[in-house]
Amino acid sequence: MPLVSLRQLLDEAAKGGYGVGAFNVNNMEQIQGIMEAARATNSPVIVQASRGARSYAGDRFLYHLMLAAAEVYPEIPVALHQDHGNSPETCISAIDLGFTSVMMDGSLEADGKSVADYEYNVAVTREVAEYAHARGVTVEGELGTLGGIEDGVGSGEVHLTDPEQAHDIVERTGIDAIAVAIGTSHGAYKFSKKPDGQVLAMHLIEEIHRRLPDTHLVMHGSSSVPADLIERLNAAGGKMKPAFGVPVEEIQLGIRHGVRKVNVDTDGRLAITAAVREALLAKPEEFDPRHFTKASREGMREVVAERMVQFGQAGHAGDYEPLSLDQMKQTYAETAAGATS
Ligand code: G3H
Ligand code: 13P
Ligand code: ZN
Repeated sequence: MPLVSLRQLLDEAAKGGYGVGAFNVNNMEQIQGIMEAARATNSPVIVQASRGARSYAGDRFLYHLMLAAAEVYPEIPVALHQDHGNSPETCISAIDLGFTSVMMDGSLEADGKSVADYEYNVAVTREVAEYAHARGVTVEGELGTLGGIEDGVGSGEVHLTDPEQAHDIVERTGIDAIAVAIGTSHGAYKFSKKPDGQVLAMHLIEEIHRRLPDTHLVMHGSSSVPADLIERLNAAGGKMKPAFGVPVEEIQLGIRHGVRKVNVDTDGRLAITAAVREALLAKPEEFDPRHFTKASREGMREVVAERMVQFGQAGHAGDYEPLSLDQMKQTYAETAAGATS
């Protein structure tokens, strides 16, 4: 199956009432771990690459690894998404490379740190949507800012999404999906204790979904940071402080209210690092790197498969035939013509 449009994948998720994990990748083992998890659970899946991932792996390597994934797992609908595009140039280069979806994160300026002004966000997001939709590619925007700074990305300031403005930016840009800020943040250290409904503004999701029933909601910073992974990592020589992520039940509540894309990076990182540390500790005499790269792939597979079941995407890989980007382009053109006639 060719790489599919994120829009189609999320439209199907909305029909089925489930969420789809968007898992970050940087290398072959992560991609293989995700695809194995998708096969084992019969799940459609979103694979996403940050700017950092593109520069680490190299655009051509990353893209061809994804083509290999689509070829080797033909029964799995898989979308390739640019995570946190910081500028139209980043998004356009991803589209030209063959990504089927991009995020234009205009909530921050191009430095990925300074909180951007609303009109700047509308302008860059609209520019990307025009370019992407003319090629059948999906666009995710972001409104509001998450807390936390991950590898230099993020402002550190929390600005929860304003539902009124969410409606306005969707109207003015035509985006397919919108990332909402509801109190989560990137990275492992999200909360000092298990968050409750006071800490996570789940009511905002309900309100935004009520106003924008046809726009898919995206939850960033959705790693659950399982205590057992931190324990395993520390028991094998790691040094992580106690950390709390987003409880899976809160994500499931979000999914019941319109969240369709659930971004998970940190849980994969933790699972990989715990597995690699354990593998190295268990066999200090081993110097074949496959000993630990295999462990990393297995660590990724396990955590991703668990999330696929929890988000409800498991069992849905065979529900639909993929639409080509040309067909998606046609649909966008018809929608635009309908809006102007
Ligand atoms: O949103 C941030 C993701 O976790 C990607 O992180 O920029 O370190 O690849 P990265
Ligand atoms: P986590 O750091 O919670 O995994 O969030 C990842 C993310 O939102 C990527 O865009
Ligand atoms: Zn994010």
